[in-house]
Amino acid sequence: MDFYGVVEKRRTVRDFDPHATIDAETIQRIISAGLQAPSNDHLRDWHFVVIRDRSVILKLIEIIPKGISAEDMQKLLSDWHLDDPVQQECYRNAVPKQYRMFADACCVVVPLFKQKTDILHPENLSHLNGFASIWCSIENILLAATAEEYCCTLRIPLGNEEEWTRKVLNFPAEYRFPCLIAIGKKRTDANEIQQKEYSLQERIHFDRWG
Ligand SMILES: Cc1cc2nc3c(=O)[nH]c(=O)nc-3n(C[C@H](O)[C@H](O)[C@H](O)COP(=O)(O)O)c2cc1C
Repeated sequence: MDFYGVVEKRRTVRDFDPHATIDAETIQRIISAGLQAPSNDHLRDWHFVVIRDRSVILKLIEIIPKGISAEDMQKLLSDWHLDDPVQQECYRNAVPKQYRMFADACCVVVPLFKQKTDILHPENLSHLNGFASIWCSIENILLAATAEEYCCTLRIPLGNEEEWTRKVLNFPAEYRFPCLIAIGKKRTDANEIQQKEYSLQERIHFDRWG
């Protein structure tokens, strides 16, 4: 697959085959792609906890709700002001699968980056550089997993999920993680999720906006 083929093929998948596996060499190639991303401080001081042990995965996701009632889903859409019908459909598909998608994954990757300043109260944009860099690394991981014929999804930690993850995985205090990544094999009956259409002509502005 050439580069643009990989970019087109990568789509978030939340319906994984629970019997699929991934070997250590494939994981190494995927994480190596992650480590080659652009980094703000020239140090690439990232670590990746890769969990294949089912009992650890299940412990890690104990804190994630296993589903959502129709009523709570409706409340979430309205509280978060999610008015667009395509966007609503994406949330209706994604929210109930947050637990299952990790339980059925071949492995869970937790990318770790060092954050020296208070990320929730940055003094300027450069204080977010470490966070921005780890996301570059995450995109490389998503693309590399796609090139390896795997699929991914991710979850941003909510509530006390960050503390819980730290407790279960026992990583050093100076590291934080932006999301959990699930890597797996797509089930044959996986949902195809429609995405928002865009017009390249309208989004690209040569030389000036208008
Ligand atoms: C910053 C960020 C946060 C996301 N958070 C979640 C999440 O918490 N749970 C989830 O299932 N998907 C999450 N996603 C995946 C998006 O839902 C998905 O990328 C989006 O619908 C576009 O679909 P695509 O990846 O197939 O292009 C997140 C993606 C990004 C970039």
